[in-house]
Amino acid sequence: MRILSTAALALALSAPVLAAPPEKPARLGLCAACHGEDGVGRIPGAPNLAGQKLDYLREALRQYRDGRRDIPVMRAATGPLTDAELDRLAEWYSALPPPKAAQ
Ligand code: HEC
Repeated sequence: MRILSTAALALALSAPVLAAPPEKPARLGLCAACHGEDGVGRIPGAPNLAGQKLDYLREALRQYRDGRRDIPVMRAATGPLTDAELDRLAEWYSALPPPKAAQ
């Protein structure tokens, strides 16, 4: 948590003024171990999500949850979530600035 919030603070300070960033989603803790709260992958194979297109993230999350993308770790993480919860996570990650290396 300490490391993540430091990273989030650094991002907030370096980001251009964002129009009302969304509030942290309640379920963010389910994702942060692998994708970070800041949307930067924390483990090998976990893609960066920060700045990804909202529609793309929303659709990808539904595909994992419904098994159309058959990836067990993502299916486990998204399985218990409602459409509204998935959308909140998609909004969160898409609103973050993309990591420098990806720009
Ligand atoms: C145990 C690690 C782990 C957890 C926890 C996890 N993910 Fe993932 N996530 C992955 C991996 C690995 C992939 C790549 C899967 C693939 O090859 O399709 C991935 C892929 C994704 C993608 C697709 C990105 C793309 O570019 O196609 C999205 C979106 C995503 N995760 C969001 C989430 C969200 C939101 C949560 C929390 C509900 C979450 N993930 C939890 C490991 C994880």
